[in-house]
Amino acid sequence: MIASSVTIASADDVEVLHWWTAGGEAAALNVLKEDLAGQGVGWKDMPIAGGGGTDAMTVLRARVTGGNAPTAAQMLGFDIKDWAGSTGKLGNLDSVAEKEGWNDVVPAALQDFSKHDGHWIAAPVNVHSTNWVWINKEALDAAGGKQPETWEELIAVLDAMKANGITPLAHGGQAWQDATIFDAVVLGVSPELYKAAFIDLDEAALGGEQMVEAFDRMAKLRTYVDDNFSGRDWNLASAMVIEGKAGMQMMGDWAKGEFLKADQVPGKDFVCIRFPGTQGKVTFNSDQFVMFDQGGASEAQLAMASSVMSPTFQSAFNVVKGSVPARTDVPNTDFDDCGKKGMADFAEANAAGGLYGSMAHGHANPASVKNAIYDVVTAHFNGEYDSAAAAEELVSAVEAAK
Ligand code: BGC
Repeated sequence: MIASSVTIASADDVEVLHWWTAGGEAAALNVLKEDLAGQGVGWKDMPIAGGGGTDAMTVLRARVTGGNAPTAAQMLGFDIKDWAGSTGKLGNLDSVAEKEGWNDVVPAALQDFSKHDGHWIAAPVNVHSTNWVWINKEALDAAGGKQPETWEELIAVLDAMKANGITPLAHGGQAWQDATIFDAVVLGVSPELYKAAFIDLDEAALGGEQMVEAFDRMAKLRTYVDDNFSGRDWNLASAMVIEGKAGMQMMGDWAKGEFLKADQVPGKDFVCIRFPGTQGKVTFNSDQFVMFDQGGASEAQLAMASSVMSPTFQSAFNVVKGSVPARTDVPNTDFDDCGKKGMADFAEANAAGGLYGSMAHGHANPASVKNAIYDVVTAHFNGEYDSAAAAEELVSAVEAAK
């Protein structure tokens, strides 16, 4: 059992809405459930399947509108801002945050989403990032063994995997998964493009030549997926890589949770690299727990927030989840090589101005804009638009959604 920094004598259950339903995710969630059980806080599970959390947010809205808010909910970036600004229904965590000094240990990039009007309204449990590639080691060795560092090298490896008779790219055709690859592809074309298009929502960037190039790269990647990719869940795509049926998956580091759950070892069974051309840059997203106001924060809510933020918990949880801690003072001792790399990359990108919120996972722009981008990216991936038309559509879709 993991010790938490606050001991609560008696507390109610927490009902927690989340989208952690894949094997690796459930294993990480168990670390939290057990930690809370150790403090006498019971867990009522409210899982809403669907990577990226779009479905979870729809259900959450319906529940809160119906007067039946859960105790706590997993949320991403701009959704937190939206709930805090428009509803006023989120609980205030200042008492526990002040007592435990969250201000001093949570990176500013995360605090931006954890606070509203200077008050703590969310407890960040991790930092994920989306510009990763997960490669089957044997398939990479058979394809020449060199980890690709540029777009051209990536294409050479994908071609070699194709020639070797496996599906080069394991992918699930769901809008959020297409968008997750798009995060990395746009960042790889140019970090300035990523910032201008997704964070500043600059029209010239959204519709310019570099964006056309990004769409061309998506079209190229589309040629490496298998015929059955449509609608496939992300963890089933991970399984294809784990089983050696596919060469690689381009996915956030929650994918690592699946590899670990299958007893795979980084460096031996699989390889983790930053999406070629994005080394030193990180597109991040942070899962945070918000509490719904129960006429002031309940003991159970404060205990949960405290648990989530405890350094020992952050280590134990993120080792399993595939993410890295949301605090700067957690040692990397217990993390595997990919986790150590994730922690170092995040710190480096943060220090050097190479840290950007993930568009695909709600940290670059509000949900309305994100969903508009999803629609265009998916329509293009499925051949509805050519790259030039997609860039034009992106401009008008974002404009209409702003
Ligand atoms: C969340 C991860 C989750 C992934 C797939 C992301 O938006 O941040 O925690 O594992 O979606 O469900």
